[in-house]
Order: sequence, then structure tokens, then C-alpha cells
Amino acid sequence: MFLAHVYTNRRNKLKSLVNSGILLFIGNQEASYNYLANTYHFRQDSNFLYFFGLDLYNLVGLIDLDEKKEFIFGNDVDMDDIIWMGPQPSIAEQAMQVGIENTADLSALARYISKAQEQGRKIHISPTYRNTHLIQLADLFGVSHKEVKNFVSVELIKAIVSLREIKEEIEIEEIEKAMDIAYDMHTTSMRMAYPGRVEREIAGTIEGISLAKGSAVSFPIILSVHGETLHNHYHGNVLQVGQMMVTDAGAETTMHYASDITRTVPVGGKFNERQKGIYQAVLDANMSAIEAIRPGIEYRDIHFLAAKVLVEGLIKVGLMKGDAAAAVQAEAHTLFMPHGLGHQMGLDVHDMESLGENFVGYDENTKRATSFGTAYLRMGKKLKAGIVLTVEPGCYFIPALIDQWKSENKNAEFINYGLLESYKDFGGIRIEDDILVTETGHRILGKPIPKTIDDIEATMANKI
Ligand code: GLY
Ligand code: MN
Ligand code: MN
Repeated sequence: MFLAHVYTNRRNKLKSLVNSGILLFIGNQEASYNYLANTYHFRQDSNFLYFFGLDLYNLVGLIDLDEKKEFIFGNDVDMDDIIWMGPQPSIAEQAMQVGIENTADLSALARYISKAQEQGRKIHISPTYRNTHLIQLADLFGVSHKEVKNFVSVELIKAIVSLREIKEEIEIEEIEKAMDIAYDMHTTSMRMAYPGRVEREIAGTIEGISLAKGSAVSFPIILSVHGETLHNHYHGNVLQVGQMMVTDAGAETTMHYASDITRTVPVGGKFNERQKGIYQAVLDANMSAIEAIRPGIEYRDIHFLAAKVLVEGLIKVGLMKGDAAAAVQAEAHTLFMPHGLGHQMGLDVHDMESLGENFVGYDENTKRATSFGTAYLRMGKKLKAGIVLTVEPGCYFIPALIDQWKSENKNAEFINYGLLESYKDFGGIRIEDDILVTETGHRILGKPIPKTIDDIEATMANKI
């Protein structure tokens, strides 16, 4: 964890942003997968990690704004725990490491909350994403699990977003470490992408890298020769020449900061002419979007810039036609890229998404679109220095979607449906980088992971 003053400073800033009441942060518990004692890899809640730093289960952080006190609630280990888990620091020792003097066991939390309720004080929570939290909170508040949402505080959500969205220097250093791990994962994936390999051999190998060098993957690996399925977690295909293989994967550091990178490569190490045309269109969209990143610009505008560059590339290969800007205006590009350009990244790979995408990626001045494709843009708001975000344009040939649009003759003035038929076996391409918005522009985080056609072919030539 960071030094205690980091967490104290963060909590002090939070206290200055919320008016009164109690701020309650439920840390995560262990979660079981097929029987109680067989648990998933433990992952602490990111808000808890950000403000309280402790990476252990069954802890609750509480900030009492009215009494000006901070607490960690948790139970000290007993002899059974020591036998199975080894000796553990006491809750008081742990709390001191993050600058908190007051501790008590979990039974005292219920008394604290009921007293505050009797006094009619406001209790602020952020939205829950685990049912165990819902049950714990329902018990604490003495309400049905359906009523727990009434305690979710927009004031708290907005305060957290305003702090977590601007990355501190020490956080950027952590994200760079996650990028180093991603570099090894992706160059390994490229070098393994040869005919006859099964996708899971590559996915398993690169997941092993994330475990060996950090704290596992930041999300389940997407690795597929069917990249047209955006979040494809099936890893059973055997690689064949002529296919493009998408690898969308990132790591968490031991401090739980994420990376999120996508590379797409031709199986066998050499792009054919058809692959080059589509790949270059996506790469140009990726690079033009990155180039445009600076404080003050709305990310929604960068999304549409990437879409326009993609359309220009598709016009070059004959799949689209007409005026690129008009095609984007008509949202004709969403046949090929039915998702948003990117999202923020930090302690979560989709940073703060549990707080609600619209609070995180949008604000009073930037409202989310509801139209097909564009509605998936997780972030549209104006950029500020210190934001870390992804830029991940793609081009996908989704047979069912092509058939649907073709049957409706949708956007036929911009789409060459005749030629498109022959691309239905193409798969998909996505190219994703992680970017820091700086005072003057932007910085691509991590050492460059090969992405030009020449650099990918050169990397793949070093086969493993
Ligand atoms: N985790 C998938 C993505 O957002 O890139
Ligand atoms: Mn990704
Ligand atoms: Mn992403």
C-alpha cells in the first residue's frame, strides 16, 4: 500500500466535498465459487482501496463527518484463523498503516449505525455490486434489501468521482507497472499466434504472465479469432492462416492498478492485402484519436473523429462510400464499430463503473446518446489533465448485424453491401491503448507495444 498520508489526504479531500452525515465503505468479503471454502482470488473493493488502502477482507471503513472521526471496523483473528491463515496484524495495527486511530469490531458497527439512525443522521453509501453487501447493508439499516438503494448518495458518488478521476503521480507510476506487464502479455500472444495453436494455450500463457508479475488479469482475457464477438471469452478455436486474432487483455499490479490493451494480429505472422486494408483503417482511427487528446476537448468528439477516420479507411477499401462526415452523422459507422471509443481506467479497468457510468463518463453538460452503437460510449465528457483513459476503436464484421441492416437497406447510400458479403468471414479488429491526459496534451502510457503492420510482423517473426 502507499504511505499513510496518501490515504489521509484522500479522506480529508473527501470530507471537504460532502456536507454532513456518515460515509460508509463496505470492504469486500471472500466469495465462493463451488463450495464455501473454495474461494475466488480475493479482490478488495476499489473505493475501499482508494480511501482506506487495506487489502484484506471483512473490513468496513466509516467517516463520521459530524463527529469528525474515522474508523476501521473489523474482527481480529482468532486461533482457528491463525492455524489456517497464519498470524495477521491486529485491526488496530492495520488501521494505523492508513492513518486511522479508531477501530472496533464488526458488532460495534451495527450499534454505531442504529444510533446514527435514531439521531436522524444521513448515512451515505455508494451503489453495491455484490449481493453479500446488499444483505450486510440491509441488516445494518434494518430494511429490506430492496430499500438499500435509498441510502445511495449522489453527493458521495460525485465526490468520489471528482477525486478518483484525477490520477496522482504515484497512481500513474502504478499504471505504468501494469503496462509493463501488458507489454509482456501482448508480445507473447503475438509470438504464439501460429496455425495449429488453440486459443486457450495462448490465453493461459499470458494469464500466467499477469499472475507471475502482478496480481492477475484486470478482466477476463478476450482472445479470439472471432473478434467480431466483442467480449469473446471462448478459447477453444484452433488458429488458421487467414484469420485475425484479437487479444484484449491487461493486468493488475499488486496494488490493483490496471492496464487494458488490445492488439490484433494475423495468424501466421503476415498480413494479407485484405487484412492490411482494414487494419490500417483501425490503426489510423486509433492514432488520430490519440493525437487529438488534450484537456478541454469532449471525449465524445474524439469518438466521432475516430469514427470518421475509420469510415475514410473503409471508403478506401470500397466497403463504404459517399462523404465520411455525412456517414458518421447518419451513424452508418456503427455497423462496423457498434461500441464506444473508450473509458477511464485506474483501480478498476472500467474505472469507477460501479458508481454508475453516467456519473463517471458524463456530467451536467454532456448527456449520453441513446442511439444504436453510440449509446455504448461509456465516456463523453470534457477531458481534464490527470484523467487516464483507453482509446480502442475497432472494425467488426458481424454476420447477423450485416444481414439485419442489409435486409432493411439501412444507410445504403454509405455502405457497399455487395462487397460486404465477402467480408462476413473476416472476424474483427480492435486496437487499444491507455492514455494519460496531460496539462498540454497526452502521453501514451507504457513502453510502446507493437501496433504498426511492420512492427507486428517483425515481432511475430520471433515465434515461440
Ligand atoms: N475490458 C474490455 C475493454 O473495455 O476493453
Ligand atoms: Mn480492453
Ligand atoms: Mn477497454
